[in-house]
Amino acid sequence: MVTIRDWTVQYPDATVAIDRLSLQIEDGERLALIGANGAGKSTLILSLVGILPGSGEVTIEGLTLNKSNITEIRTKAGVIFQNPDDQLFLPTIYDDVAFGPRNLGLDEESVRHRVEDRLELLNIAHLRERSALKLSGGEKRMAAIATVLAMKPDVMLMDEPTAFLDPKSRRCLIKLLQTLPHTMLIATHDLAFAAEVCSRCLILKDGRYFADGPTQKLLYDAEKMDAAGLEAIS
Ligand SMILES: Nc1ncnc2c1ncn2[C@@H]1O[C@H](COP(=O)(O)OP(=O)(O)OP(=O)(O)O)[C@@H](O)[C@H]1O
Ligand SMILES: [Mg+2]
Repeated sequence: MVTIRDWTVQYPDATVAIDRLSLQIEDGERLALIGANGAGKSTLILSLVGILPGSGEVTIEGLTLNKSNITEIRTKAGVIFQNPDDQLFLPTIYDDVAFGPRNLGLDEESVRHRVEDRLELLNIAHLRERSALKLSGGEKRMAAIATVLAMKPDVMLMDEPTAFLDPKSRRCLIKLLQTLPHTMLIATHDLAFAAEVCSRCLILKDGRYFADGPTQKLLYDAEKMDAAGLEAIS
């Protein structure tokens, strides 16, 4: 479970990107985070694991975020960044996916099992010896998701996971997310994807809570979506 209370994130130039946001994500719930460009989606995701500092209270799986438990929080909640280049930095995709499990102190055989399993799950086993520098945007996205799944987090925070994906990879991701048991917060502009994967969605506007409700209702509500600077699914 993720509980956010009165959460505010301000950048050093005084921009308030998240403004007193409160919300709860239940165990196993998949919540879509929707909002126009600049609404604060990426800022919220990064701040929930201490990559950006915030004020208020964030509790993930019973652990309340503070300066001293950021490493532990990040074993509970994995982030898939908006830009996969921020996630892949080793010579091969195998090493990138193995990085987290190795850091957890697993022996090499267990690491290999876990890495191969995640590469298979995401249909990217053929990329294991390739460098992220030479992959397409979609291939990098799938590899970045594998690095997070390899850490076995309880919560997955995803920023635009379908960006760069071709229709087949996007479909593969939708099917995978529908079957995973994790609690998820997924920032996306891909509303059809949100409708298929998430039961609930939260709309942010100018860093503030604007609305939340069932995706099947809210994403089709032309008036509300328009007021949030978005376009409803027709
Ligand atoms: N480093 C920064 N310094 C100051 N302001 C920033 C910084 N990064 C982002 N912002 C501002 O914070 C607000 C929220 O930005 P954020 O990137 O979280 O939006 P977003 O909803 O993820 O947008 P997008 O849909 O374009 O990804 C915007 O007004 C943005 O201009
Ligand atoms: Mg963003």
